[in-house]
Amino acid sequence: MSAWDHTLNRPFGYFEEAEGQFYKQVAERHPNGCIVEVGVCLGKSLSYILPVCRKLGIQVYAVDLWIPWAELKGENTLEAFMANLDRMGSKSWTEDGPVEAVTVIRKDSVEAANQFPDGSVDVIHLDTDHTRDRTIREIDAWWPKVKVGGEMLFHDYRQDLWHVGEVVDEKLGKPDEVHVCLAAVRKKA
Ligand SMILES: C[S@@+](CC[C@H](N)C(=O)[O-])C[C@H]1O[C@@H](n2cnc3c(N)ncnc32)[C@H](O)[C@@H]1O
Repeated sequence: MSAWDHTLNRPFGYFEEAEGQFYKQVAERHPNGCIVEVGVCLGKSLSYILPVCRKLGIQVYAVDLWIPWAELKGENTLEAFMANLDRMGSKSWTEDGPVEAVTVIRKDSVEAANQFPDGSVDVIHLDTDHTRDRTIREIDAWWPKVKVGGEMLFHDYRQDLWHVGEVVDEKLGKPDEVHVCLAAVRKKA
């Protein structure tokens, strides 16, 4: 498997087109904001928001451990992601010249939350290992970081597989929107 999907002209991954279009709409709601994607892999989901983020001055943080992925057949996951990022063009252009739109953070999904102040992030998109324990710990770590008026997205929100659906419902209530398996919960207060 190649890290770049030549048919779709995007990074390889399992994020669906309708989910990508919804993610793009969410980014458009937060001009000049801050988006943290936790669980980036090769950058497929990120590819849907990068053009909007460059255009609207949105700062993006990409968090992942870039765990080796068997499907990549020995290729280094972080190096493959960085090559994909170059290919997608990760810079915004300002009057003062190019600015990097994406900050890469190689850290555990729970630990990485410590470097963001509470109430400082407009959108957090969570897409890691989907186990019950980790999803609980990730929500506990990241939900306080979301601004009032911001939103938290959960990929693989479903009730028949993994634990994201049940944990989100228990801890935050039913999502405000679900598109295929991408759920959004808005922070009202
Ligand atoms: C389902 S993939 C993400 C897919 C990606 N959003 C896309 O569109 O292709 C899950 C990612 O979570 C990362 N991951 C798993 N456990 C993690 C952890 N404890 N901390 C940080 N990243 C983790 C893996 O390295 C992997 O890249």
